[in-house]
Amino acid sequence: MERSVDERNQGRLTKDGITLHESADFAGMHAAGRLAAEILDRIAPHVFPGQTTGALDAMIEAWVEEAGATSATIGYKGYQHASCISVNHVVCHGIPGAKVLKDGDILNIDVTVIVDGWYGDTSRMYVAGQMNRKAERLVQVTHDALFVGIEAVKPGNTFGDIGHAIQTFVERQRMSVVRDFCGHGLGRVFHSPPNVLHYGRPGTGPVLEEGMFFTIEPMVNLGRPETKVLADDWTAVTRDKSLSAQFEHSVGVTADGVEIFTLSPGGLFHPTWG
Ligand code: MF3
Ligand code: CO
Ligand code: CO
Repeated sequence: MERSVDERNQGRLTKDGITLHESADFAGMHAAGRLAAEILDRIAPHVFPGQTTGALDAMIEAWVEEAGATSATIGYKGYQHASCISVNHVVCHGIPGAKVLKDGDILNIDVTVIVDGWYGDTSRMYVAGQMNRKAERLVQVTHDALFVGIEAVKPGNTFGDIGHAIQTFVERQRMSVVRDFCGHGLGRVFHSPPNVLHYGRPGTGPVLEEGMFFTIEPMVNLGRPETKVLADDWTAVTRDKSLSAQFEHSVGVTADGVEIFTLSPGGLFHPTWG
């Protein structure tokens, strides 16, 4: 069957509108992913009680510029920051600002950069000071859930297989998977098909093919999965105020498996603390 051409991604498109990239495109994604991951490595020592989320974001913005890259989030749908910083019961899209971190706060820092037109999108969990047992378990389960999802990435598997693997793993730990936000295709665009759900049924959804680039970014709650968006139109929080965590990698499907574009050069993806 003829594949149509995706003008922006400049690749072949599946019937689900998913771009199939060329093997040469993996290098562009690795460069973008590496910068995003380096920035998340570099921010780690700056996360401590008394620090503000706005100061962390200012450092991230400066480092993106210093690298000669572009922030994908500044100006995206009116968003004005180089990162999202989501503390405690904030699920995602926390807006950096005057908020002061206190001992025991857990936070997700999410950075997306554009390098030579390619998007690198990744996030990890950090802690200010000392984490309590429950938070540590949540963060570990969320990290492991991402990797359970990544293990399901290979040609012939479906997106439903990824979601099912994550959901099954998380619910077995008596935690819940957020339904209201998902991963996404990316490449020369920030958000493209498909929606990468972190729950689902095996064998459902589009079939994975070599050259697909997308994120997996499960959000896991200690309590119920429901979220709500605050009046600022960005900040998503758990409805029951329970603690939430998230990890995100950008990945590409290879002939026989997966490449992770956003691996930490410093080996600091998890844990990010000492
Ligand atoms: N990086 C986020 C993601 O994983 C998107 C942030 S969009 C923003 O898709 F505008 F909130 F920054
Ligand atoms: Co993303
Ligand atoms: Co992200």
